[in-house]
Amino acid sequence: MHYYDKEPTFKELRVRKIRTIIRGIPLTLVLAPGVFSSEHVDEGTRLLAENMVIMSDWDILDMGCGYGVLGIVAAKLAPKGRVVMVDINKLAVKLAMMNTRINGVSNAEVRWGDLYNAVVGERFNTVISNPPITAGLELNRRLIIGAREHLKPGGLLQIVVPKKLRSRFEEILFKNYDVVERVAKSGSHVVFIAKLMH
Ligand SMILES: C[S@@+](CC[C@H](N)C(=O)[O-])C[C@H]1O[C@@H](n2cnc3c(N)ncnc32)[C@H](O)[C@@H]1O
Repeated sequence: MHYYDKEPTFKELRVRKIRTIIRGIPLTLVLAPGVFSSEHVDEGTRLLAENMVIMSDWDILDMGCGYGVLGIVAAKLAPKGRVVMVDINKLAVKLAMMNTRINGVSNAEVRWGDLYNAVVGERFNTVISNPPITAGLELNRRLIIGAREHLKPGGLLQIVVPKKLRSRFEEILFKNYDVVERVAKSGSHVVFIAKLMH
């Protein structure tokens, strides 16, 4: 059983509202048990948010958006672009919708889906993700390989992974992308940017 397997009822929900600043952007975020990182912005998420490359007119996919922080930061950094946020956890989708509204984001859309089935035929300048490590390597492999079908030429997959799994993820990335760079690291996480040239 994973944290995203069961959708808690609203009765069970104990939401928490936090305020934080990421890349100089003040954010108010509603978090809740049953959705990844229910108390604060996860350290890996923050590392990716602080280091991801986002151009102001990009189309962005936040895969496994949780309560929505990465997609919301991306939407603020891309006022002339658009963001699609996807999660398999219905409560996460609800929170992400709530959080986009609270933070005045109008260029983002939240969808419920299993990996890329919510974005069939769509392509993006970048796919950003703090992937669901606890779901196992196979799902994460599908997330990484699947991104290729949804990137425009020159598009970037930007992901954060726990340091201890760095070499496993590096191997999958190098096998499936033309250029792979390690762009940031903290005590516990590493951020990779992988690029497709064609
Ligand atoms: C590590 S959490 C990251 C959440 C959020 N992006 C953050 O950084 O706080 C991974 C997310 O992936 C979602 N997830 C797991 N399996 C998925 C799938 N098959 N399709 C879409 N999302 C999935 C989980 O529900 C969870 O919200």
